[in-house]
Amino acid sequence: MSVEPRRLLPLLGSHRTGRSAVTCEYRCGNACAHPAPNRSENEYFGDVVKNVVSRRGALRAGAVLSATAAGFAALSGTAAAVPPALAGRGGHHGRPGRRVPGTDFEPVAPNTADAVVVPEGYEQRVVIRWGDPVLPGAPAFDFFNQTAAAQARQFGYNNDFVGLIPQDPQGWRNLLVVNHEYTSETDMFPAGTYDENNPTEEQVRIAWAAHGLTVVQAQRDPRGGLKVVPSRYSRRITMDTPFELRGPAAGSDYLKTSADPGGRTVLGTQNNCAGGVTPWGTVLSGEENFNQYFANGGTVTDPAAAERLSRYGIRGGATSRKWERFDKRWDIAQEPNEVNRFGWIVEIDPNDPHSTPVKHTALGRFKHEGANIQIARDGRVVVYMGDDERFDYIYKFVSKGKAKRGTSAYARRHNSRLLDDGTLYVARFTGDSPASEIDGSGALPSDGEFDGTGRWIPLASGDKSFVDGFTAEEVYVFTRLAADKVSPTKMDRPEDVEPNPHNGRVYAALTNNSDRGAAGKGAADEANPRNGNRNGHVLEWEEHRGDHTATTFSWRLLLVCGDPAAADTYFGGFPKDQVSPISCPDNVAFDGHGNLWISTDGNALGSNDGLFSVPVAGPDRGQVKQFLTVPVGAEACGPVVTDDLVLVAVQHPGEGAGAADPDSHWPDGGTANPRPSIVSVWKKGRWGAGRIGYR
Ligand code: FEO
Ligand code: CA
Ligand code: CA
Repeated sequence: MSVEPRRLLPLLGSHRTGRSAVTCEYRCGNACAHPAPNRSENEYFGDVVKNVVSRRGALRAGAVLSATAAGFAALSGTAAAVPPALAGRGGHHGRPGRRVPGTDFEPVAPNTADAVVVPEGYEQRVVIRWGDPVLPGAPAFDFFNQTAAAQARQFGYNNDFVGLIPQDPQGWRNLLVVNHEYTSETDMFPAGTYDENNPTEEQVRIAWAAHGLTVVQAQRDPRGGLKVVPSRYSRRITMDTPFELRGPAAGSDYLKTSADPGGRTVLGTQNNCAGGVTPWGTVLSGEENFNQYFANGGTVTDPAAAERLSRYGIRGGATSRKWERFDKRWDIAQEPNEVNRFGWIVEIDPNDPHSTPVKHTALGRFKHEGANIQIARDGRVVVYMGDDERFDYIYKFVSKGKAKRGTSAYARRHNSRLLDDGTLYVARFTGDSPASEIDGSGALPSDGEFDGTGRWIPLASGDKSFVDGFTAEEVYVFTRLAADKVSPTKMDRPEDVEPNPHNGRVYAALTNNSDRGAAGKGAADEANPRNGNRNGHVLEWEEHRGDHTATTFSWRLLLVCGDPAAADTYFGGFPKDQVSPISCPDNVAFDGHGNLWISTDGNALGSNDGLFSVPVAGPDRGQVKQFLTVPVGAEACGPVVTDDLVLVAVQHPGEGAGAADPDSHWPDGGTANPRPSIVSVWKKGRWGAGRIGYR
């Protein structure tokens, strides 16, 4: 579909990707503007980049090694042109008549439209938007008369992860579970009503109610897509909702507060980013940039406590949102352990609106992007997780017990309990270059199809710690510091890490890391092969013998993102003149054919963010095609791809311009202020029969 670019995104000087200053402040507490809080002294082996490059022919070594910030400046600020081979029908690179199952659509060109732009032949509709009623008695949304009581019964702000759980074999009725990652107050409150230095208590309470999660029932809409219907499942989880801390660190002294002397009950969840639907029908969600909500970390004088705060990016002084003025638990000077009660994977059972959600301490505490589960051949539960920070790590958890099949209440309870007892590992990626061996344990042979091998290094199992100087509970509560001791690989912001049910391989989106190779920072290595990495990359690995409980694996680069015309990009070996430009991969999903779908956050090529498909097998492996773009200033999140339906979360449309003169009026149009929303996309005229990615 051709669109008239509304305007090009401004490239804001202090930001290293294409995202606004307000997004950076409210979403992650300006993480990119601060030094990465990883100060362990692992070695880097920048010279090994040449090895992976020459072995795979993946990248041109000279280009990679010279990929500096200056080099990227030339790419920034202009919308990348649609590749000629994609401008016509399909991009089948000289194989007329060939169709890639599930990806046969006309790709959308990069653009800066204030719209959700979908391919020719597809339709779309908003499913639910910020402020829409969720619970009985919720008032209609009124941008100019917001209250905390209304928001607590309405759809929250800044939708991120989307989980779709069918309630019947045809998917007529479904549970829709959505995270509300964060609030951006200068955009969500009417112009002139919000003073960043003096928010009112009611505004702070609105923000508490706008965080968390929403559960609703969504039915197939005869007009196409999904519609939300009232049901007994409707639920809002906010900063007031009690959560049970479970697993080996529950009840730890590190988790006790004056309000909860037992260290087992926490009110609320915040900064919930990505997540995953479990095989037993619950939802896992990652508490990500929790650090930014806690004030006065600088008052802590005990060196060990100060180091722990610092490693999680917690700084001194007031917070942006000033929550600490209205509840002392956000003030580290008054309530030093509340901060340890965030940064977990939480589990919600949407089937039971009265269930108490859980924070799983066995899965470790860090800036959790999300969590995705694979049941191993022997029935044990394996959870893959990323810690979204520059130079942080990829983790997995392997349960001790075995899963029950199905989604019954019994299976849900049994399987959730499996996440309380198991082994937590962190990943070390080793390149095939001998120089990339870190600890002398010997690089494992890879079979030539891969770029290298890796090991899962155990951190703790139940109440046993494998890290010198750390008790098991310290491993779980201060996971980053424990992991630093065992030399894992520092990655370029690990986001979604997700197994592909079709081939058993695991895919990790590494969003970007503009600090890679900067003075005093880690240089490129084989698994993070590009200095000044503004566009991110995607890794693929296979656990040893396909066993997800294995402690070794083989890995390779699938995508090195960016402008296909640039020498330092790689698309799985697919001809680069026949792919869509992609930048900053964040969330991933798989369709029924095993194709990888990737949503992006912070496109550094001048286009709006979007959703892309990529075959991972066969001759079209690596053929990136853009399925949609999201409106001005928005991030594409939470993709769900079924046979005949795509769902995408449009997060923070228009963010950064302020409420007086917003950059975006999506989705309500006219002069309306923008509203984060979930969108459904389907094939035109063939709802229920037209399959996604087929012509
Ligand atoms: Fe909330 Fe890692 O993105
Ligand atoms: Ca994300
Ligand atoms: Ca995902």
